[in-house]
Amino acid sequence: MTKWAVIYSSVTGNTRQIAEAIAEKAGDADIFRVQDAPQDLAVYDVVAIGYWLRLGQPDPLTLKYLAGVRGAKVVFFQTHGTSPTSEHAITSFARAGYHLGEGCEILGTFGCQGKINPAMLEKRKHAGPDDPHGGPKSAERWKLAASHPDAQDIADAQDFVERMEHKLILRERFLAKKAAKLAALQKKE
Ligand SMILES: Cc1cc2nc3c(=O)[nH]c(=O)nc-3n(C[C@H](O)[C@H](O)[C@H](O)COP(=O)(O)O)c2cc1C
Repeated sequence: MTKWAVIYSSVTGNTRQIAEAIAEKAGDADIFRVQDAPQDLAVYDVVAIGYWLRLGQPDPLTLKYLAGVRGAKVVFFQTHGTSPTSEHAITSFARAGYHLGEGCEILGTFGCQGKINPAMLEKRKHAGPDDPHGGPKSAERWKLAASHPDAQDIADAQDFVERMEHKLILRERFLAKKAAKLAALQKKE
């Protein structure tokens, strides 16, 4: 059985909901808030790291944690106000990967929208058209985010766990075949 660490950062609960769904599906999983997560992750087959987006990248607590993660097979999950298919959301995964410590491998990524903190919405009400958070487009995005994570996001996150476990099995089979081929070649020489 694949052993998972599920590590998350969450202020208003969106990312925590996805973390809990992932841990439940994974079965053999330990779940930690990023503040409480161990830095030695050697006992885990998969390390799932989840964060909320702030300024187009993982939140500050997660950024700090990522640098100390070494030699792990990592999956990222993120929640954000923007659409999961937007350039903004996709670039954020690249930023998360950039901050990881040495020797990690990224197995996969999952993202979904998450409702915006009402205190932030109140502040942004008066943003002018030159503010990146002002204007009707932002208002439209926030409206779309308001119902997330929803039941479909939870189901998608759990499906993601299955796909990652399958990927891991295929990867191990592929590597074993490659090693056997190499050993056979070396024997011939
Ligand atoms: C200060 C602040 C900055 C944010 N910056 C972004 C951002 O750059 N891009 C984005 O898509 N969402 C942004 N959001 C929205 C959050 O990432 C989103 O609501 C997330 O689901 C919150 O997760 P949580 O409930 O786990 O704390 C921001 C929210 C706050 C409060």
